[in-house]
Amino acid sequence: MTVREILKMGDPRLLRVAEPVTEFDTPAMRELIADMFDTMHAANGAGLAAPQIGVNLQLVIFGFKQNARYPDAPQVPETVLINPVLTPLSDEKEEGFEGCLSVPGLRGSVPRFTQLRYEGVDQFQQPISRDVDGFHARVVQHEVDHLLGVLYPMRIADFSKFGYTEVMFPGIDPNDDD
Ligand code: NI
Repeated sequence: MTVREILKMGDPRLLRVAEPVTEFDTPAMRELIADMFDTMHAANGAGLAAPQIGVNLQLVIFGFKQNARYPDAPQVPETVLINPVLTPLSDEKEEGFEGCLSVPGLRGSVPRFTQLRYEGVDQFQQPISRDVDGFHARVVQHEVDHLLGVLYPMRIADFSKFGYTEVMFPGIDPNDDD
């Protein structure tokens, strides 16, 4: 088990556009993906993008049954998504609070597309195509933004809904301090 260091906002490596993955199911890729899951689980994250551990590849993971940081969120299947393409299925957006392991201790309300299709491949280069909505759609948009060098505070429309988790969500276990 290898928990990697998660880069924090301000690190220029979080602002890069990630490169497409061209190698699949190699020892290096298997190790990278295992480390990403170890890192995400150790931090109780809902998702993690490779650039957050300094690897500039179009690779994100996400999913959970129950998440301590988002106790009211419906479960999202554990997914490895590589070289993703997102297609909104309507123009409708909704606001919802997000945190980020690269922005510890804070939460902000971010407008996201309500419904979208995500396509890409998994770690074995098998195609993935899913139509999703709600929190699942939000998580995917958040993670794929990391591949574009975008962190959620850059998407906030109403900064009165941006603040410290411990202040705005006192019910969240302080050990899950993002
Ligand atoms: Ni994030």
